[in-house]
Amino acid sequence: MSQTKMLQFSTGALLLLLPWFGGLVLGEISDNFSQCLNFFYNETPPSGIPAAGYQPICQRYKNQYHFASLYHRQHRAPLYSAYILSPADGKRPNNTWKYEPQLAFSRASPEMKSFYGDAPVDQNVIESQAVLEDYKNSGYTKGHLNPSMHQKTMADREATFTLTNIVPQQAGSNSGPWSGLEREVLGKFKAYCNGSMYVITGALPYITERWINNRVSAPEYMWSAYCCPSYSSNLPTSMKKFFPTYAAVGRNDRNSSQEIVPVNVKARASVRGYDVRRMSLETLEDILAQRLGMPISLFHGQCQ
Ligand SMILES: *[C@@H]1O[C@H](CO)[C@@H](O)[C@H](O)[C@H]1NC(C)=O
Ligand SMILES: *[C@@H]1O[C@H](CO)[C@@H](O)[C@H](O)[C@H]1NC(C)=O
Ligand SMILES: *[C@@H]1O[C@H](CO)[C@@H](O)[C@H](O)[C@H]1NC(C)=O
Ligand SMILES: *[C@@H]1O[C@H](CO)[C@@H](O)[C@H](O)[C@H]1NC(C)=O
Repeated sequence: MSQTKMLQFSTGALLLLLPWFGGLVLGEISDNFSQCLNFFYNETPPSGIPAAGYQPICQRYKNQYHFASLYHRQHRAPLYSAYILSPADGKRPNNTWKYEPQLAFSRASPEMKSFYGDAPVDQNVIESQAVLEDYKNSGYTKGHLNPSMHQKTMADREATFTLTNIVPQQAGSNSGPWSGLEREVLGKFKAYCNGSMYVITGALPYITERWINNRVSAPEYMWSAYCCPSYSSNLPTSMKKFFPTYAAVGRNDRNSSQEIVPVNVKARASVRGYDVRRMSLETLEDILAQRLGMPISLFHGQCQ
């Protein structure tokens, strides 16, 4: 090898290795939530979910952790996001959608990154997670698990716009009964919760999985539960069943059977079939156990 050739060769090799070394300095993907346990009640993530196939993500943005998600790699969608509710103190931010380099390169930075306009997306990113293209013409909207209106600061709210916090959600659910549930939970927090409200919101896939773009699993139902361990000491009688925990399941397919969530046939046409059924935490855990085949316990000690 001549010296010039040698130089070209090693420069090329160095360039190839740069992203790898860059990642090495910044971090390494973890197989647990050790960096963001504070978003779970008693610093304890849900139990009963097998580790295989699921990737814990501590959602890091602008050098801070904002919430946690359990990502199902094969579904390219989260099973749930867990967060502490805090009412938004401003408007919904601009939708700059983000992805997680750490899913594509295990040694990459844990910091989420923005997709830039129509700039091409790295093939490793495409293979490891959902990208904007998956949602185009899919018939589904991008449904937040941790919604931006439940997050206080602008950075907290911007961080919810990562596709690892998003599932394919029908418009009739997203802007209909499901957003009604999100407002109701916010109202309960403001009126009666005296301390932190821990929320876990997730997706329930079809028994025979359905996909958008043959890549991203679409849920048949959405579910959510909260734990407010310290609440108003003089709750009105009608409010007692909502504390310390409460839960709900929402339809994401108007054609689904009515065993889990019945349909109100009198609802207006645009939202008919996207009903949300309120229920106890125990009932939700029974439904999850049956449908997911795992004995999930969402909050440590049932939040007591
Ligand atoms: C969590 O993961 C980190 C590596 O990111 C590891 O050092 C630590 O031991 C793990 N903790 C537990 C409890 O498994
Ligand atoms: C949102 O984007 C618009 C147009 O790009 C910009 O003028 C505005 O300042 C942005 N708002 C925020 C909150 O970033
Ligand atoms: C909230 O908790 C504090 C401290 O435990 C207590 O002093 C206060 O009375 C509680 N407020 C309500 C509305 O229960
Ligand atoms: C519901 O059923 C109708 C009629 O069979 C069909 O056109 C539609 O695609 C179905 N919707 C979903 C979400 O499967």
